[in-house]
Amino acid sequence: MPHATEMASLKIAVLGAGGGIGQSLSLLLKTELRSTCLAAESGIHVALYDVNRDAVAGAGTDLSHINTPVTVTWHAPGGSGADDPLATCLRDAQLVVIPAGVPRKPGMTRDDLYAINARIVTTLAAGIAAHCDLSRTFVLLISNPVNSLVRVLVDTLVASSSAGSAAAAAQEVPRRVFGLTQLDAVRASTFLHEALGRHARDVVRVPVVGGHSGHTIVPLFSQATGQYVSANTPHVFTDELRDGVAALGAEALAQLVHRVQFGGDEVVKAKNGTGSATLSMAFAAAQVTRAFAELLLGVRSEIRDTLYANVGGITRVAGDQSQELHKLTGGLRYVSLPLTITSDGLQSYDTKWARSMTPAEQELWSGCVEELQGSVHEK
Ligand code: NAD
Ligand code: LMR
Repeated sequence: MPHATEMASLKIAVLGAGGGIGQSLSLLLKTELRSTCLAAESGIHVALYDVNRDAVAGAGTDLSHINTPVTVTWHAPGGSGADDPLATCLRDAQLVVIPAGVPRKPGMTRDDLYAINARIVTTLAAGIAAHCDLSRTFVLLISNPVNSLVRVLVDTLVASSSAGSAAAAAQEVPRRVFGLTQLDAVRASTFLHEALGRHARDVVRVPVVGGHSGHTIVPLFSQATGQYVSANTPHVFTDELRDGVAALGAEALAQLVHRVQFGGDEVVKAKNGTGSATLSMAFAAAQVTRAFAELLLGVRSEIRDTLYANVGGITRVAGDQSQELHKLTGGLRYVSLPLTITSDGLQSYDTKWARSMTPAEQELWSGCVEELQGSVHEK
């Protein structure tokens, strides 16, 4: 077993690190967090865990040869040591990312994965509750169906916390656990960039709210923003971009929306029974993980991002907003919205986007809320 860094002041655990997403994400963390280490003048330790020993041992050993200041260790059941490998991986981690779980095959929905992946997430949540400090650990969930597993994760963490800290866990956990819907925003950005034939330098952002499955995914193309940086000067082209979106026409826009909503199926079909999106998901997850690493190391003071979360968890902080949100979501507890998060957890959410939706986007949002409310896992 490789030794852990003593110098690192941030430990990130990746659970399910031997899989398609896990390996690619671990590579991106090993390489891309180099600049975070330099900005924070700190080491980062990425601890990999998977029940597939060969996969995680191979990935961990391979990654440990890359010369960045990010230290990698790997942990798996089946070794000769007395220590519980999950405990060793999780101990002192302040950020846990979970890509552990079974992916779809053609003909399956994400909900078809619920039973098997809920078991995996429940086991891992019990480990996190036992070995991490729930009042300071952020947990990012990738495993599908995100729409319902975030709730399983939150409930299991709260239920597994030790009796003395149960009340605190019930307050803190919902503000520190997030489901990753970032891949939908990555897809929306890519597909709009292509549709409008933008220059390679142009960075296009599209807010995507709702959930992470089919019609619960609501891309808000009318609120896209655009910027590029040249000679250290930012150039904003948002007005031009929005004119381009409007000029696409209703049919082309509906096709773009559909492509984002069912982008996952495109990859499942292309992989022909061997899995679902891994590389694009790892890219999306690395962006979010890096933002949390910067937050925890004090390189940034807050994160503003769209994540799937228990939005009920912040009503005590933002009482006024909670009424507006209740009206908007019909009382959904879990939904993906633009959130503001500090090192103390989820602080508030943004609802400005809801006031600026086009009639077509409002219709998409109503369909999304209806579907999420109808989900057995929301009840
Ligand atoms: P994969 O099969 O390649 O990898 C999953 C890994 O999890 C495997 O290495 C497996 O050994 C490991 N694992 C299983 N049970 C475990 C446990 N109890 N503890 C630790 N590790 C365990 O699958 P993948 O392609 O990497 O996808 C993983 C999950 O991510 C799937 O559920 C998939 O649907 C989901 N996903 C989500 C998004 C998203 O946008 N949120 C995007 C793509 C995929
Ligand atoms: C995706 O959107 O690519 C993931 O949720 C994986 C899937 O099952 O489609």
